[in-house]
Amino acid sequence: MCGIVGYIGEKDATPIILSGLKRLEYRGYDSAGLAVLQDGKIEIRRDAGKLSQLSALVNDQPVHGKVGIGHTRWATHGIPSARNAHPHLGTTGRVVVVHNGIVENFLELREELAVEGVPFNSDTDSEVIVHLIERSMGGGNDLVEGVRLALRNLKGAHGIVVMSADEPDKIVAARIGNAGGVVIGFGEGEMFIASDIPAILEYTRKMIFLESFQMAVITKDSVTVQTLDGKKVESQVHSISWDPVAAEKGEYRHFMQKEIHEQVRSLTDTLAGRVDFEEGRIRLPELNLTPELGQQIKKIIITACGTAAHAGMVGKTMIERIARIPVEVDIASEFRYREPLVDENTVVLAISQSGETADTLAAMEEARQRGAVVWSIVNAIGSQAMRLADGYISMQTGPEIGVASTKAFTAPLVDLYMLAVLLGDLRGTLSADVRKKLVGDLRLIPDLVGRCLDREDDVRQVARVMKDVRNMLYLGRGINMPIAYEGALKLKEISYIHAEAYPAGEMKHGPIALVDRDMPVLAIVPRDPWYEKMISQIEQAKARGGCVLVLATDGDDRAAELADHIFWVPEISWMLSPVLTVIPLQIFAYHIASYRGLDVDQPRNLAKSVTVE
Ligand code: G6P
Repeated sequence: MCGIVGYIGEKDATPIILSGLKRLEYRGYDSAGLAVLQDGKIEIRRDAGKLSQLSALVNDQPVHGKVGIGHTRWATHGIPSARNAHPHLGTTGRVVVVHNGIVENFLELREELAVEGVPFNSDTDSEVIVHLIERSMGGGNDLVEGVRLALRNLKGAHGIVVMSADEPDKIVAARIGNAGGVVIGFGEGEMFIASDIPAILEYTRKMIFLESFQMAVITKDSVTVQTLDGKKVESQVHSISWDPVAAEKGEYRHFMQKEIHEQVRSLTDTLAGRVDFEEGRIRLPELNLTPELGQQIKKIIITACGTAAHAGMVGKTMIERIARIPVEVDIASEFRYREPLVDENTVVLAISQSGETADTLAAMEEARQRGAVVWSIVNAIGSQAMRLADGYISMQTGPEIGVASTKAFTAPLVDLYMLAVLLGDLRGTLSADVRKKLVGDLRLIPDLVGRCLDREDDVRQVARVMKDVRNMLYLGRGINMPIAYEGALKLKEISYIHAEAYPAGEMKHGPIALVDRDMPVLAIVPRDPWYEKMISQIEQAKARGGCVLVLATDGDDRAAELADHIFWVPEISWMLSPVLTVIPLQIFAYHIASYRGLDVDQPRNLAKSVTVE
């Protein structure tokens, strides 16, 4: 997790590093720091807490220079404190490092270095890296060689940026494994380095991405990429089309609120160029799905973490119903160690907003080794999950900054639906009429999502009443069961209210014992094939004195009669209903957290990209 940035050029590095860190804060906000080369010396400013602390410190004690590196931390080893904040300086004071990842063998390395007399100034695993570099430079090696040799000692996955006061014309960056990306951006007489695209999008759209076991030597005019064995590599230069303004909050109070409201646009973009409404056909060219492959697939395993896994659960019903292919959904951290039963007739489909989640990438690698076809649905362009896959679907959401994922949940729902139709078409499970109807239903999505968003105020008023609840139970069935999980996740991650989700039919096997006035039940009851079953489950909750919030389709008087509070969604085909039902739940969680005065975009203990196990 953690965010790293670097700058080398002719401008003042400090504000560029601070603005990059601001955009990376979603990756961790336990502490922040920067190091700038000023008058031939490395000057460090760092502090515990959010970036605002660092900005205040830099205001008090300014630092200027044309080369610098910075870091925003999500603590793994060593408490969040100024002493443990990056950058970490070596003993000579001439080399400095920022690091993203975990040095798995750091205790061993620390002991080894301590025996050699190296003093440690922090409790982090990262500090060993700078000492190892200095040790490797001891024999007359330059910075590049020092970094290369030092990296050989490290176990684990890493992104590293290093600079030296003795070689002020360069920055060295390296990547080992999947600890989050290292992106290098090209300017005119200046270069930028960051963990992720949005950090440097304001300055450049021309970028390269380091692969695992590569390092880059970056000067103000050039970048040379090489493997850790010193072989030169030609990296593809990508031109990023994301709009830098998309990474700004604009008129909204929080990124999460903005991103909820962006769903009309993101879903319009999701459909654009992929849906032929005339013919009733879907095109997903980047998936590399040939008719032969379509026929050959015997099983699909969807693997993902968090919100992305909930999208996968919805996708299971879509693909099984439409394309009649068996689908399993497996949490990536489980799948990777399950010794999964996959072969060349299995597709393993990873879903990831960041394309960096360590467990998801490991699950993809595991699937590849076992001979499966590997696909991904991914948002971050050029990310590892995109590059590791045999084929991919690119979510058209633009950057998502709020830690609680919203627009990167609804986009993959629509992607999975389109995939189901494409597979059904290739395998002949759909008549032309059914196919055209399924495709035609997609046309309604942007408008109906817009209508859900127009009702924000109704949902906000319920949030105002409910803001002090201590627990909630979310219930759903069938295709909307995962929406109960997603709604509960949104509430717990940003408002710290305990929320549990259950497949409603399981209520009677335990959770119903919890139901009383203090345990509100939120029941997701659109008009879908599980409607009647859900209604009787609400009645059971009511009979036990429960306070019931109902999410129902416009005009459903029966649901309204049972409800203490109600959220309405417009009518849509049941297969696409999750795209709408999740929206009031996103809005509800957002306003509860907002009323409770919490930090919506940066909830405690969480980070947006989880690049550690
Ligand atoms: C973290 C984020 C979640 C996200 C999950 C998976 O836990 O806080 O919002 O759903 O990681 O991330 P990915 O980038 O793989 O979708």
